[in-house]
This record gives sequence, structure tokens and C-alpha cells, in this order.
Amino acid sequence: VSDSAPRVELDPGRPGGRVLLQAGVWQSYTDLDDPAHLHFAYTQRVADAVDIVFGARTPLRAVHVGGGGLTLPRWLAATRPGSTSTVLELDPRVVALAHAQLGAGEIPGLTVRVGDARAGVARLRDAVADLVVGDAFTGRQVPAHLATAEFVAEVVRVLRPGGLYVLNTIDDHPFDFLRSELATLDTAFAHVGVVAVAELLARQTSGNAVLVASDTDVDWVGLAARVARRIESHAVLGPAGTARWCAGAQPLTDARQERVGSRC
Ligand SMILES: C[S@@+](CC[C@H](N)C(=O)[O-])C[C@H]1O[C@@H](n2cnc3c(N)ncnc32)[C@H](O)[C@@H]1O
Repeated sequence: VSDSAPRVELDPGRPGGRVLLQAGVWQSYTDLDDPAHLHFAYTQRVADAVDIVFGARTPLRAVHVGGGGLTLPRWLAATRPGSTSTVLELDPRVVALAHAQLGAGEIPGLTVRVGDARAGVARLRDAVADLVVGDAFTGRQVPAHLATAEFVAEVVRVLRPGGLYVLNTIDDHPFDFLRSELATLDTAFAHVGVVAVAELLARQTSGNAVLVASDTDVDWVGLAARVARRIESHAVLGPAGTARWCAGAQPLTDARQERVGSRC
């Protein structure tokens, strides 16, 4: 097995714990005995955003851009029975592993489509989703074509009014990608915020930032309270703070040249 092939490792500290790695990079952590368990901090942030926007146990129609070990579809099915998850995953080997070693076949309401998520989203009907989770990575990078204004317009198209787009990102100083992606979301959604450790928002450390976008306002104060009570405390920037944080950044486009007009 080459290092680039995806593989599943056991967690010696947790009997049901499984880590999916791709090219040596951790992609998903799943507890086969506890589908509601979210190990990675960023998955907890995604869950916090979902839970602040949608009523407890409300079933959701979700689209997942990037499937990995299917942690979030599993969490959604466990915490919101009756939910459906359409997963768009590029790598057929990941999908095969998820079935063979991570019990994908037992996740209720799950559909997995193998292929590039940009094409997968383009094939979805208008207003079919309450929630789109953006979590596609090549190594530690969001693929460029899944970050542009054109792709985000497709996400907006498949979301129903009041729907939520939550996007996981990883970046490092000087945060050009994160700032540009926030500017990109700002061109398409009325309300855009970001959740990350306070040190990252202070531009003092690298890591994950979870972007939260909707055409309906989000309870940013409630979200901040929710993320602060986790073991690894995070901070939230609401729309005004986010606009200041990415001031001057250019939205990303397929042509990567045009500024399409944002408040950033
Ligand atoms: C971090 S994992 C996703 C974890 C997942 N959200 C979960 O709940 O476990 C990232 C996944 O994105 C996939 N990916 C990368 N590029 C992609 C693309 N263009 N389209 C669809 N999936 C892609 C990778 O193969 C990898 O499985």
C-alpha cells in the first residue's frame, strides 16, 4: 500500500475510533460505537453552526462536498433522525474503504456519488438542500475550483431559502486564501461569519477556520457561546467583524481575475 493510498487506522485510546488518512494526512475521525461523537475540533464547529441554525432533532436534507470517512453524515443521521445526506466524493478508494471498514452501509439516509463535487453539485436540482457542508481537501488545501464565486453560486442554487453553507478551510499567515474565500462568500450570501481559535483570528496561528454563510441571519452571539464551551475554545466573527477581517481581499473566480463586488 503506497503512502498516497487512503487507509484507516485504529485509535488505541478508543475502541471504536477510526482515523481515515489520505496521503498521510488525517481526513476523518469516526467512532463506530458512537456515531454522534465528533473528535476533530472543526467537526464540532460545523455541528455547532448546524445546531444554532436548525431546531434540535429537525431532520435535514444535506449535501456533503467531500465524503472522507463520513463522520458528519453519520453524526447528522444519529442526532437528527430522518435526515438525508448526499455525499459527493472524488476518490472511489475512499468510498470503498468507508464501506469496508467504516460501516457506510449502515448510515440511514445516505447516498454517495463518486466523482468531482463541482460536477456533482451542478447535477443537483434547485433548492434541494437545507445544508451544504464544504469539506473537500487535497492534502491540507480546499481544491481551487470548489472555492470560486461560480461554485458558490451553485451552492446557493441548491440551498433552499434559509439554508446554511458551512465550509471547512485550513490556512496560514498571511491568510490570503481564507480572506479571499470570505470575500467570495460575501458576494453570494447576506450573512457570513467565521469560527476559529482566537489565535487564528488574531493571525497568530495557522489551522482550521469554519466559514458560516446563509441568506438568513444567524444567532452569532449564541454560536459564540456554544463554541466557547467546548474543550478547545473557539471564537466567532459575525458579519461586521468578518468584513473587517477580510477587508481588501479579492473574491476568487474561475478566471481568478475579476473582483465581483463584496463588502470586504
Ligand atoms: C476532510 S475529508 C471529508 C470528511 C467528511 N466531511 C467527513 O464527514 O468525514 C476530505 C475529502 O474530500 C475529498 N475530495 C477532494 N477533492 C474532491 C473533489 N474535487 N470532489 C469531491 N471530493 C473531493 C477527498 O477525497 C477526501 O475524502
